[in-house]
Amino acid sequence: MRMVAPSLLSANFLDLRVDIEMINNSQADWLHLDVMDGVFVPNISFGFPIMKQVSKICIKPLDVHLMIVEPQKFVKQVRDLNAYMMNVHYEACTHLNRTIQEIHKNEMKAGVTLNPHTPVALLEDIVTDLDLVLLMSVNPGFAGQSFIKNTYKKIRDLKELILRRNSKALIQIDGGVSDQNAAALYDAGADVLVAGSYVFNSPDPKNAIIRIK
Ligand code: DX5
Ligand code: ZN
Repeated sequence: MRMVAPSLLSANFLDLRVDIEMINNSQADWLHLDVMDGVFVPNISFGFPIMKQVSKICIKPLDVHLMIVEPQKFVKQVRDLNAYMMNVHYEACTHLNRTIQEIHKNEMKAGVTLNPHTPVALLEDIVTDLDLVLLMSVNPGFAGQSFIKNTYKKIRDLKELILRRNSKALIQIDGGVSDQNAAALYDAGADVLVAGSYVFNSPDPKNAIIRIK
């Protein structure tokens, strides 16, 4: 699968409607929403009041990436956005199995994100419960950082784990994605690429989405 999820973090917050309409009319598969709390990551982005408004006009499935502590407290609020995917960080969940169950009970797909230093092997006993694994290819918190090359090795490790355990999880990559590395990432086994600054800083964002695909 070759999917693209543009990240709203790099959109023009003074004119979100314009950027969401662009996404609606583009070949984007999902809209990626980066929630930051200033605790789990050293930055704060946006929260539920903004995402609620976004959800009213966005026709693409919402892919909610929670870079926050205690994400299990927000399952109902994410579900109230009519989100497609709720994605929590491995590093932020003490009872990850329970959190994944809660997400599924609330009729959303469940994703788990690994920071660049967190080994794929830690997913051994949860991977069959997941719909998606997101490998961070930058340290989360900011758009526009450079891609960490060790991600290719982690994609290979994750692909091996998914096949060996017969998991249905998709592989998503987030951070520093552009037309320079998209083909190599898909070839390595990625299914969904998140792209923030590459899409929204482009003079022709719709075409940037096509170029990634
Ligand atoms: C980083 C976020 C990313 C970010 C990607 O913490 O999780 O989704 O928006 O931005 P780029 O594509 O600019 O690296
Ligand atoms: Zn993200």
